[in-house]
Amino acid sequence: MLAIEVRQLVKIYAGKVKALDGVDFTVNAGDIFALLGPNGSGKTTLMRILTTQFKPTSGEAYIFGFDVVKNDAEVRKSISYVPQETSVWTDIIGFENLLIYAKIYGIPSNYREKIIWEALESMSLDAIANNLVKTYSGGMIRRLEIACAMIIKPKLMFLDEPTIGLDPSARKAVWEKLTSFRKEYGTTIFFNTHYMDEADYYSDEIAIMDKGKMVKFGTASELKHSIRREVIQFNLRNHGVNENVLKIIRSMDFVSNVAIHNSELNVVCCGCRDRVT
Ligand SMILES: Nc1ncnc2c1ncn2[C@@H]1O[C@H](COP(=O)(O)OP(=O)(O)O)[C@@H](O)[C@H]1O
Ligand SMILES: [Mg+2]
Repeated sequence: MLAIEVRQLVKIYAGKVKALDGVDFTVNAGDIFALLGPNGSGKTTLMRILTTQFKPTSGEAYIFGFDVVKNDAEVRKSISYVPQETSVWTDIIGFENLLIYAKIYGIPSNYREKIIWEALESMSLDAIANNLVKTYSGGMIRRLEIACAMIIKPKLMFLDEPTIGLDPSARKAVWEKLTSFRKEYGTTIFFNTHYMDEADYYSDEIAIMDKGKMVKFGTASELKHSIRREVIQFNLRNHGVNENVLKIIRSMDFVSNVAIHNSELNVVCCGCRDRVT
């Protein structure tokens, strides 16, 4: 069964910015699907259309067979969405955030407490449920947002850059929770990211987007095989890299590119595997 089916999707903003330029793809129910791509490639636009927030300019998209434009109310019943920006209130406690979402979702009052504590426990937030959210770390806030999205046990969860700005251990904790949630409920997960390692470790399938088009599809190993490159990612933890060190890395004959993004150093290598063996 298909969780997502997209046919020739086009989105042109204000009659001039072509954010999506004929996108076609499908996602199988139960899969974790990663959408990789640089900033401005159209990832958020695609997610906003699939979650019925924006209408496409042309083309079609279906969620479990329901048209995102014509059957938008049906689509919203089976999905949850965690946006890139913070979507919880920081001036109230964690529990109260979940209570507000439970009321918005129309969860009957006699079930609310049970469902909220289940969500808090599964995200390991029960011990701090009565603390103000402004005292939480970035990773705890992200887990609270996911807990809010979980309380309706969606068939399909959309996550826009779920671990952006988190340190590696917080990113790992978020993914451990997401994968165990998928295992327990069979939820399909669709996420946008620019972290290649996350797409590699956690997804069943990856699509790469560039300038509004899907340019590649496949499992992590298929994609690596097709480009014959490996990327080694170093976390700089806010330390700079000495220009001389960068020069030495660039001069290595198996290094084809070096890029620094936020606090990460990405070294693109060709033929690493052959060398290691
Ligand atoms: N509401 C909007 N109005 C006009 N242009 C937009 C809007 N949202 C996004 N864009 C433009 O559409 C393109 C794709 O943006 P976006 O979908 O946010 O990409 P990504 O999430 O991959 O960074 C960019 O050129 C962006 O500036
Ligand atoms: Mg985006």
